[in-house]
Amino acid sequence: MHKIIEDLNWRYAAKKFDSTKSVSEKDLDIIKESLRLVPSSYGLQPLKFIIIQSKNILRQLVPASYGQAQVGEASHLIVLCAAKKMGDSQIDEHIQNTADTQNSSIDKLLGYGNYMKTIIAAMSNEEVFTWNTKQAYIALGQLMHTCANLRIDSTPMEGFDPKAYSEILSIDDNQFSPVLVCPIGYRDKDDTTQFLKKVRKPNATIFEHK
Ligand SMILES: Cc1cc2nc3c(=O)[nH]c(=O)nc-3n(C[C@H](O)[C@H](O)[C@H](O)COP(=O)(O)O)c2cc1C
Repeated sequence: MHKIIEDLNWRYAAKKFDSTKSVSEKDLDIIKESLRLVPSSYGLQPLKFIIIQSKNILRQLVPASYGQAQVGEASHLIVLCAAKKMGDSQIDEHIQNTADTQNSSIDKLLGYGNYMKTIIAAMSNEEVFTWNTKQAYIALGQLMHTCANLRIDSTPMEGFDPKAYSEILSIDDNQFSPVLVCPIGYRDKDDTTQFLKKVRKPNATIFEHK
């Protein structure tokens, strides 16, 4: 079996973590670099990732996650936050970063920058937030695959209260809002979910070849 398929079969949405085990700094650095490399529309990276290791904070977040215990048992919790708005300053920053990184003249990029500004100016803050939230789902997919490759368990989660999270984590609601959370760590031997066969639709119903 190809390594990619092996990794994807190995992973499952963990329901119970072994709270005595921790993800190493070395692996955490790989996970962070994977998240930094996540692609996004126009490359604007309208996301922030809050990484929580404090057991005290993790415990506080369990009730804000509708009692889902895996949040409190995980080695780390990654909170994926999407930017609430975007404006000219974010575009200018991106253009500057592109010019610096690729050693190119900023003048050559100004037209593209103005094009992006026009597109974004035509969107409401709500539309911008929805767009940014979609970028977070790309990050979640990449995060889960990276973890699986490292044999680190993860749980993709939408089941949490973003307002309560913002309060506990002191997130400035005008700037960012939590849209997904993902506890990571090591599966508990008593997590019976790990032994269940994956439920997936057959190829014939999800693929169409033309
Ligand atoms: C966007 C998203 C949100 C999810 N939210 C939760 C959640 O809040 N709690 C949970 O236990 N599982 C959650 N899941 C896990 C799914 O139920 C699980 O991925 C699905 O049943 C497939 O099983 P597998 O991941 O074990 O292969 C979520 C999955 C995704 C992709």
